[in-house]
Amino acid sequence: VVDIGALYKHTGMFTYDPGFTSTASCESKITYIDGDEGVLLHRGYPIEQLAEKGDFLEVCYLLLYGELPTAAQKKDFDYRVTHHTMVHEQMSKFFSGYRRDAHPMAVMVGTVGALSAFYHDSTDITDPHQRMVASLRMIAKMPTIAAMAYKYHIGQPFVYPKNDLDYASNFLRMCFAVPCEEYKVNPVLARAMDRIFILHADHEQNASTSTVRLAGSSGANPFACIAAGIACLWGPAHGGANEAALNMLMEIGTVDRIPEYIARAKDKNDPFRLMGFGHRVYKNYDPRAKIMQQTMYEVLKATGHSDDPLMQVALELEKIALNDEYFKEKKLYPNVDFYSGITLRALGFPTTMFTVLFALARTVGWIAQWNEMIEDPQQRIGRPRQLYTGAPKRDYVPVSKR
Ligand code: ACO
Repeated sequence: VVDIGALYKHTGMFTYDPGFTSTASCESKITYIDGDEGVLLHRGYPIEQLAEKGDFLEVCYLLLYGELPTAAQKKDFDYRVTHHTMVHEQMSKFFSGYRRDAHPMAVMVGTVGALSAFYHDSTDITDPHQRMVASLRMIAKMPTIAAMAYKYHIGQPFVYPKNDLDYASNFLRMCFAVPCEEYKVNPVLARAMDRIFILHADHEQNASTSTVRLAGSSGANPFACIAAGIACLWGPAHGGANEAALNMLMEIGTVDRIPEYIARAKDKNDPFRLMGFGHRVYKNYDPRAKIMQQTMYEVLKATGHSDDPLMQVALELEKIALNDEYFKEKKLYPNVDFYSGITLRALGFPTTMFTVLFALARTVGWIAQWNEMIEDPQQRIGRPRQLYTGAPKRDYVPVSKR
């Protein structure tokens, strides 16, 4: 029996909080969530208003600087982001080193982490100017890298950024244009893509953002910190849920099979969970899920898929779950990932790209939180404690005597 009291006699009191369910790791002025009421505010502005009236780069500016830009500030910011979209040509060599069947998120973790090998002039975190250049570079280059990961995955040549297009249109073009064919961005789809980016831009101290802050607390350079965030986001309990949710809907396939899956989700002996349902903070409808549902309708209409059978499965699944005692009692509602898969599929993306799109959009949140942390006078290296439950002190036994 381990005498924990004796082991910790010199450390004073500390809390034991697995999963950090009730421990604030920082002060932040960026994003506010009221999980009971289903409220999400960025710098005080409701997500519904930002998604309806704003555009993604405007939200990026807001998250980074704390205020919405004036017209002149917006023009300047858009210009600066737009003119950082190219990646060093040597980076394209990275891609040919990966297997073609590599998951694009694996490619993202490696390639984004490698940015610090190319942009040495923006890795000094003590210099505010370098920090801002790194921030703009990351927001600007992420769509280019994500599109390159996609093109490599499907065996097509890379498409370079076209800087007279807006952020979302440029990204869609880099993903879907092919040489020898005219490609015109559908403005309805570009607006939908932009709104999806807004919905994923930030979500306070979630697992990947906390990972970025923890990595950054050691003084690591911003590119390395964002790569750490991407790695964390990949998990199916976090950003990987959009891919998992669509796979689940495809597996269910038809409305008549829903009760079987609802029963499995409630069965404690079955590890199955309804993907795209439940949230650590929201104990009410995730406000992003409502906007995502509306975006899904618009995209399906614009692409001629209004009769998508998976949409019927999703709508019916939501209806049944929301009327089920188990889900009501545990306050499990659709989260942002529930409808995003159907929407992204209709936009033309394979499931393996879903989490990549999430990472692309969340980059601004990560970078805004990272900047806030660096500027915080309270900032110290993050160093959680533990409750040691292993063996007490004992003497080494030579291998011949074991
Ligand atoms: N389906 C069935 N039961 C669920 C679900 C679900 N999707 N989510 C939670 N529960 C149940 C759990 O079994 C648990 O039941 P218990 O109290 O009887 O043990 C209870 O609800 C609480 O669940 P926890 O896992 O303790 O809640 P936590 O806050 O740790 O997890 C999480 C939240 C990871 C999002 C969880 O709801 C889940 O796994 N959902 C599915 C994956 C998903 O959609 N992730 C995306 C999150 S949003 C995002 O990252 C953008």
